[in-house]
Amino acid sequence: MLINRRQAGACLAGLALAACGKKSEETGATNTVKVNKESFGKLSDGREVDIYTLSNGKGLVARVMNQGAIVQSVKVPDKSGNVVDVVLGFDNLDGYLQKNPYFGAIVGRYGNRIGSGKFALDGKTYNVVVNDGKNSLHGGNIGFDKKYWGAREVPNGVEFTTTSADGDQGYPGNLTAKVTYTVTPDNGLRIDYTATSDKDTVVNLTNHSYWNLSGQGNGLILDHEMMIDADRFTPVDAGLIPTGELKPVEGTPFDFRQPTAIGARINEDNEQLKLGGGYDHNWVLNRKGGSVELAARAHDPKTGRVLEVLTDQPGVQFYTGNFLDGSVKGKGGIAYPKRSAFCLETQHFPDSPNHPDFPSTELKAGQEYKTTTIFRFPAA
Ligand code: GLA
Repeated sequence: MLINRRQAGACLAGLALAACGKKSEETGATNTVKVNKESFGKLSDGREVDIYTLSNGKGLVARVMNQGAIVQSVKVPDKSGNVVDVVLGFDNLDGYLQKNPYFGAIVGRYGNRIGSGKFALDGKTYNVVVNDGKNSLHGGNIGFDKKYWGAREVPNGVEFTTTSADGDQGYPGNLTAKVTYTVTPDNGLRIDYTATSDKDTVVNLTNHSYWNLSGQGNGLILDHEMMIDADRFTPVDAGLIPTGELKPVEGTPFDFRQPTAIGARINEDNEQLKLGGGYDHNWVLNRKGGSVELAARAHDPKTGRVLEVLTDQPGVQFYTGNFLDGSVKGKGGIAYPKRSAFCLETQHFPDSPNHPDFPSTELKAGQEYKTTTIFRFPAA
């Protein structure tokens, strides 16, 4: 059976993957992803951590593990065919079990910050774990990045599942979350998230991969050119909590609507850059009404590698690794200095539960939270 052009377009955009995977074999645009499972070590209680290597035979090889549902490595070729790993992280499980800044992890239940670790829902005030000054960051002390997830191989990838009990880190509702990593025919690492709860709650899941398109451990990202399709961003206070304003990027160092080197304006005398120690802000994505749309594109002029981020989420946290300080030694024992990677964390806006004007992060009991993000690497 042949698929029509519209369907083919949807496949390219990474939509309806299951159907694309099936039909692609009939059209010749095959998406035969090899999934290889290996042990990545054991936790202190003896539980085995498995790492899954996903490769589509077209240049993208991603490794993901069930501890933290972490993306451990993403290998992509450059314009001359040189393949390197473009995400920061560790060579072995022990690295990930030490304190580290969420390398490659799924963060939840609430990615980014909740002001004063407090919010009201259905007339009740909830206090969640405060772990970042007076605020709550990335789901609390034992967020989803520290969870041991169940794993199941699926066509073209692997599905991870975790549960979080009612009251875990202060959040209401028994929550079940699933994260599925698949590799698409067009060199995308696709992440599908779902979650359900038995009580009304708030959810905001994201992936915290640190990208360096020259290769992890290979210098700073200041010369990478960044494009973010956003006319506005959410300015923050000193605790990096949004003030509530949606500020136009026009005429500010936050205007990335045209590709601009990350380092071109990062040291400008700008209050918001000072508060963030660089870029560590949420951009309000220009939504065009589709579902999974291009949100950002990064280009490394040295190697020609390009990363495109597509999402259905309203925001993206562009973070320039300002808190990296060389104290963490990653893969190959290499220290990761400040600004040696950037993150593009697709998300709902930080502190949304305390901003009724922001798109809502509330998940009603019995309903399904469902979102998709794709990190895609067009040929360099
Ligand atoms: C996010 C936050 C940053 C920082 C990193 C983790 O990007 O916005 O402020 O907490 O995570 O180090």
